[in-house]
Amino acid sequence: MTAKNFELKNPNTGLTTSLPVRSGTIGPDVLDISNINRDQGVFSFDPAFGVTASCESKITYIDGDAGILLYRGYPVEELAEKSSFMEVAYLLLYGELPTVRQAQEFSASISRHTMINESLLRFFHGFHHNAHPMAMVSAVVASMSAFYHDSTDIHDPRHREIFAHRIVAKLPTIAAAAHKHSVGQPFVYPRNELAYCSNMLSMFFAVPCEDYEVNPVAAKALDLLFILHADHEQNASTSTVRLAGSTGTNPYAAISAGVAALWGPAHGGANEAVLAMLEQIGTVDNIPKYLAMAKDKSSHFRLMGFGHRVYKNFDPRAKIIREICHEVLAKLGRNDNPLFELALHLEEIALKDEYFVSRKLYPNVDFYSGIIYSALGIPRSMFTVMFAIARTVGWVAHWLEMIADPGMRIGRPRQLYTGAARRDYVPAALRKTA
Ligand code: SDX
Repeated sequence: MTAKNFELKNPNTGLTTSLPVRSGTIGPDVLDISNINRDQGVFSFDPAFGVTASCESKITYIDGDAGILLYRGYPVEELAEKSSFMEVAYLLLYGELPTVRQAQEFSASISRHTMINESLLRFFHGFHHNAHPMAMVSAVVASMSAFYHDSTDIHDPRHREIFAHRIVAKLPTIAAAAHKHSVGQPFVYPRNELAYCSNMLSMFFAVPCEDYEVNPVAAKALDLLFILHADHEQNASTSTVRLAGSTGTNPYAAISAGVAALWGPAHGGANEAVLAMLEQIGTVDNIPKYLAMAKDKSSHFRLMGFGHRVYKNFDPRAKIIREICHEVLAKLGRNDNPLFELALHLEEIALKDEYFVSRKLYPNVDFYSGIIYSALGIPRSMFTVMFAIARTVGWVAHWLEMIADPGMRIGRPRQLYTGAARRDYVPAALRKTA
């Protein structure tokens, strides 16, 4: 829907271009500048895409000032309280909450796709035991394209749906295999009678020499964390999946690119960095010293788990995770968790500090999630893998939305060139030393 136009006048040529304004269902209007190079001979300039709407989407809506997060219009708080990760996965992938029958069929299909090709399991033996799990997961996900390359026609909706179910189903199996390889234990196969998160815990922690009973508190906590991490609009890793996918590449390769992007400490890798930071801070008495370092640009130290490109208010996911921390730690008999107490003090002190208040730096989704993962017995190096399992649903939802769009084109940003102007080749003998 076009609401009104902006008139852009070029002061050098006097030429005026009318830029259409488009309105969404909710949220800021966008200015369609796609013709300014044709009409005015200029590019827009927005490094890191801070104010650039890269696409139109119906999946997730964020209001950073109000701290609002909606999945297909449903508030994440309501889904966290009333839904399940499998139901949220269906919602994000298909656009609507499933009927009872649809939910049963979807979960059954996911269960039947949880095994991975035995050849894929052998890939793990090529990694050293101390390989970072995110390196293993991104590599094995990429190699899935070798197994499904000839049977994946991205222009066939049924092939796209099979890909979606396969990758959502297999991520926990691949993640668990990475963990088992790291600890030198045999792989544990998925069990079709177990629900998604229970299955994951079983593959992580079961051993062949004794029965394993899933702790329902742990399964429920994991399910809630996966709901909260499932999607987040056009974040760096989702934008990576969209850009890679826009070339028509194999979808498993595009998801692998998303895993690689998520790994960075400025993004999904922050949950692992938060625990390392809390252990480094150690005690409440040390908080002022580290807050001072966080404010000192020369220190290169940042308060991990704080700040967000979009949220300039509390990340609603962080609020929910902080609230369930107490409950989960108590139910797991881990409520004497010194790192959680330290995190609560750190948040309290930082949110009274002018540096953080003036920059609107609040705890984000990664600040408390590691506390729960730790309490579940998940190693710190696996925290971002947990994030990747959940975010695979969002990546796939965005890939499906983009590929199904008949107007899809390959993404190809331009640049502001500030390098050398044209110059001729100089023979080596005539080159002057710098
Ligand atoms: C995720 O995009 C998404 O949606 C991501 C995500 C998702 O679900 O996909 O929400 C998941 O990635 C959450 C973010 C996890 N990362 C961290 O917790 C790492 C620590 N945070 C930051 O590095 C930072 O806040 C970012 C990367 C999250 C956001 O960076 P921006 O938007 O580029 O902000 P900025 O670096 O320009 O910071 C603005 C100011 C700067 O100070 P000034 O130059 O104005 O003086 O705030 C400062 C920064 O130095 N600042 C921090 C800080 N974060 C920002 N100072 C200290 N500690 C921090 N954590």
